[in-house]
Amino acid sequence: MADNITLTMIKPDAVRAGNIGNILAMMNNAGFRIAAMKYTRLSKEKAGEFYAVHKERPFYGELVDFMSSGPIVAAILEKDNAVADFRKLIGSTNPADAAEGTIRKKYATSIGENAVHGSDSDENAAIEGGFFFSQLERF
Ligand code: CMP
Repeated sequence: MADNITLTMIKPDAVRAGNIGNILAMMNNAGFRIAAMKYTRLSKEKAGEFYAVHKERPFYGELVDFMSSGPIVAAILEKDNAVADFRKLIGSTNPADAAEGTIRKKYATSIGENAVHGSDSDENAAIEGGFFFSQLERF
């Protein structure tokens, strides 16, 4: 399994707050190359499909409502050790626990509205990349 890509979303809260540019700059400055990118909005159905692994969790409904509440930026990012390095850059799921200098420390407001998504494994990076992008949309 390739270990050099991860899938990110800049979530509706960060888009609404006008932070797309600042967050993309943090990704670039940390050495991630944008291999694919789109500005789009998930329907409730597609948001539910993306997060299907969390279907049984109590926060699933809230998560689907939030992720379909406005536009997002989805991107495939490329770098050696992409999944682990990107999770370090974004910080803990709950911004209250996120380290200084991380994207969530700077831009997330709560565990639900946490500014960015990052794949949690190489296997999921491949699945999530395929959810948003065809081979023709990758560079
Ligand atoms: P993300 O990394 O996109 O993957 C799953 C998401 O579920 C996570 O970020 C959070 O936004 C959300 N999430 C996780 N735990 C909770 C929670 N306790 N309450 C609300 N949302 C949550």
